Amino acid sequence: NGIDRRRLMKPRIIVTRRWPDAVEHILAERFDTTFNRGDAPLKPIELKAAFQAFDAILPTVSDSLPASLFPESDSRTRIIANYGVGFSHIDIDAARAQGIVVTNTPGVLTDCTADIALSLLLAVARRAGEGERQLRAGEWAGWCPTHMIGAKVTGKTIGIIGMGRIGKATAKRAHFGFDMDVVFYNRSKVDDEETRAMGARQLPTIEDVLAEADFVSLHCPGGAANRHLINAERLAAMKPGAFLINTARGDVVDQAALVAALESGKLAGAGLDVFDGEPVVPEGLTRLENVVLLPHLGSATEETRVAMGMKAVDNLTAFFDGKEVPDRVV
Ligand code: DGY
Repeated sequence: NGIDRRRLMKPRIIVTRRWPDAVEHILAERFDTTFNRGDAPLKPIELKAAFQAFDAILPTVSDSLPASLFPESDSRTRIIANYGVGFSHIDIDAARAQGIVVTNTPGVLTDCTADIALSLLLAVARRAGEGERQLRAGEWAGWCPTHMIGAKVTGKTIGIIGMGRIGKATAKRAHFGFDMDVVFYNRSKVDDEETRAMGARQLPTIEDVLAEADFVSLHCPGGAANRHLINAERLAAMKPGAFLINTARGDVVDQAALVAALESGKLAGAGLDVFDGEPVVPEGLTRLENVVLLPHLGSATEETRVAMGMKAVDNLTAFFDGKEVPDRVV
């Protein structure tokens, strides 16, 4: 009948994880949608099969799509609408080679991710995690002048690596909220006026930033180009007693070198929302007191997760209507 024909004509799409209900509802209305009700990450073999069975794949950061999963030819999938701004888990060259469009969800998670960067910065500087653990363990002996002394944040220097949307939102919070000096490294020149408006200075190299910053906050993409951008040498180039904050991608930091820098006392602490190989977090990190570790919460607010889903809906709708796709990265 007519209804069945219309359903058959709808693009077939697969959503790899649970999305907010409001967005799933719209996806189900507009597309012939397969949901992963179990919400466990799909296996590589299932993702590989999806390229033959669906017109669109809607993955998240927890779905790795390396070149080996892309079909060599005749992919049924014509668009990958990623639920997230970072897309280093998707092999962009393989997508391009197959003529598959890739989209992401920029803008809508900027504020919440910057909020998490500042939360980590404050929490690690002021030893909030340690303090909470001590209190919950019933080990707090009461107020005293020398108890759990942390580092003052106000007036210090933050060094931002990667001055995209989230880097800028973090810089503004640090400068206007905490009177911090902001120095940053970005591959391309950031407009002078914009830099001044953030109370910031762009420096020529990462090393220049590391040499000045009391807090280094990472906001660059992950993936091969930035793998271990913060390695042992660069950790050694940081100021003694500095802090590292990572809300970008785990692979940007050499985790073993970071553990060594924290254990030796070279760094005072680290606040991490992302990990190389997450959700596995190395024991070297979890046994340290001077780290605050969060389970990739940057975009995790109701408003943001719905807005991310709506971006994906808009990208898919535009694509299948033959219109310009707003957040196309390939
Ligand atoms: C992103 O969007 O890239 C985050 O890491 C997940 O929301």
